[in-house]
Amino acid sequence: MATFQLDINNSKHKVEVNEGTSLLWVLREHLGLTGTKYSCGIGQCGACMVHIDNQPVRACLLQVDNYADGQKIKTIEGLSQNGDHPLQKAWIEAQAPQCGYCQSGQIMQAVGLLETNPNPTREEIKAHMNGILCRCGTYLRIIKAIELAAKTPTSIEK
Ligand code: FES
Ligand code: FES
Repeated sequence: MATFQLDINNSKHKVEVNEGTSLLWVLREHLGLTGTKYSCGIGQCGACMVHIDNQPVRACLLQVDNYADGQKIKTIEGLSQNGDHPLQKAWIEAQAPQCGYCQSGQIMQAVGLLETNPNPTREEIKAHMNGILCRCGTYLRIIKAIELAAKTPTSIEK
C-alpha cells in the first residue's frame, strides 16, 4: 500500500491503495466518483473518460502512481456545480442518452473538443468522437447535442 495525493475536481484527495492501481478504480471504488464508468477496462470503449490537465484520457489505462504529482484530474462530477455546463444542457435538449452508460464518457470527450475547437464542423465532431462507443447507438443524438452546445454563447468551462 502507498498513499497518494490527488487533485480531483479542484479538491485534494488522499488515497491509500496498492501501487499500480488504475485511476478508474481509485475514482470509483475509493472516492465514490461513479460518474466515470467501467466498461471494457482495456482502453477500447471510452466509458471511463476523464480529463488530466484538460486533456481527455481513459482512466482505466492510467495507474494512480502517475497522477500524484499535482496534475489536475477532472471527472464528470467536476464539470459543473448544477449540471448546467453547456454540453450537459445540450445533452438534455437533444435527449442524447438511451441507457446512459456511455454518456459521461461521451460528454468528457466532447468537452475536450469544444475547449480546443468551439465551432467544430460535423466532420470534426465525428472524427473527435470516433472510438467512444455507445452500445445503444445514440451517435446521431450525441452529434446533435455537441452542435447545440457549440451554438450556445456561454463559454465552455475549464
Ligand atoms: S473502460 Fe476504459 S476505455 Fe473502456
Ligand atoms: S446510451 Fe447506452 S451505451 Fe450509450
